[in-house]
Amino acid sequence: METRRLGTTDLHVSVIAGGCWPMGGDYWGRTDDEESIRTIHCALDLGVNFFDTAPGYGAGHSEEVVGRALVGRRQDAIISTKVPAAANMIRKSLEASLKRLQTDYVEVCFVHWPRRDEPIKATLETLEELRSEGLIRAIGVSNFTVDMLEMGRRYATIDAVQPPYNLLWRFCEDDILPYCRKHNIAVTTYSSLAQGMLTGTLRLTTNFAGDDQRLRSVLWQSENYGKCLYTVERLRPIAKDLGVSLAQLALRWVIDQAGVTTALVGARTPAETEENAGAVGWDMPDDVRAEIQDISDDLYLSMPYYFDMWGNWSTWNRRGPQREL
Ligand SMILES: NC(=O)c1ccc[n+]([C@@H]2O[C@H](COP(=O)([O-])OP(=O)(O)OC[C@H]3O[C@@H](n4cnc5c(N)ncnc54)[C@H](OP(=O)(O)O)[C@@H]3O)[C@@H](O)[C@H]2O)c1
Repeated sequence: METRRLGTTDLHVSVIAGGCWPMGGDYWGRTDDEESIRTIHCALDLGVNFFDTAPGYGAGHSEEVVGRALVGRRQDAIISTKVPAAANMIRKSLEASLKRLQTDYVEVCFVHWPRRDEPIKATLETLEELRSEGLIRAIGVSNFTVDMLEMGRRYATIDAVQPPYNLLWRFCEDDILPYCRKHNIAVTTYSSLAQGMLTGTLRLTTNFAGDDQRLRSVLWQSENYGKCLYTVERLRPIAKDLGVSLAQLALRWVIDQAGVTTALVGARTPAETEENAGAVGWDMPDDVRAEIQDISDDLYLSMPYYFDMWGNWSTWNRRGPQREL
């Protein structure tokens, strides 16, 4: 498995990473802990070394599962977890995460979501403190805008960002990707398969069971679902001609984008993990990339403002100035 350097740190992460949100047991419907553990072991065997989790995924359950899976294999893994943006909650949150993960430190700690009412200085300085104590090795921010990144970098070395990015949600191309390329900040993309939409396994008739949060996601709303599935159907013959699956095509596209370090993918089973790891080890010809880009552009141009996760993410996130001090 190909690895890439995480920003300017000495960490080298696999280009396909394990996204462990679906292992939390909420928001994604059914989950089976033993299957999740087999999935992580399969990923490790394939050379996937980067696993992303958060205390918010199943109220800590995802972290517990990752911790159990890595018993005896901790040295093979680079773990990222997340903390809230409130400085006075960060240490307590991280300590609880470390306990669930059965580890003394995590390699990467992301601020999960920015909060405009929280002083960014205190948040980032607290993370630098945790780094100096050896509890974390690298600092990341997730869902931050460029103005927040710019501000945050005054108080800490930000090593990585985590924005949503895939063929259907491309708004980070406008500013986040160029900014990170310029400042050598790693980009770890989330929802790299558009929450499964880009795997081509979903139909207009697909019903998500139980509390599967995808029902609420903007992609599954009636005005968008058909358009997205049509886009996926246009990609299908391209994947077929290349002899790869749609998931492999979509992931290859993400990891080939300039500035992207690794694609987080929420595989649930060893079979999905194996398929996703197959995004590596082949090259996408330039003319094919251009064709895919055109298909993606058609959708992007038809409803640009929908290219955020919940339909209002970018408007919410751009509202008002960040409280600086
Ligand atoms: N920082 C943040 O705010 C944030 C937000 C979202 C996600 N994340 C991180 O990013 C990770 C990845 O994003 P995500 O989980 O939202 O979305 P994703 O990776 O785009 O999609 C995950 C879903 O895709 C399906 N899938 C994966 N591989 C497949 C394959 N080969 N064939 C068929 N289906 C496949 C699975 O669904 P089914 O099998 O159920 O169909 C899985 O639940 C998360 O796990 C989390 O670590 C971070």
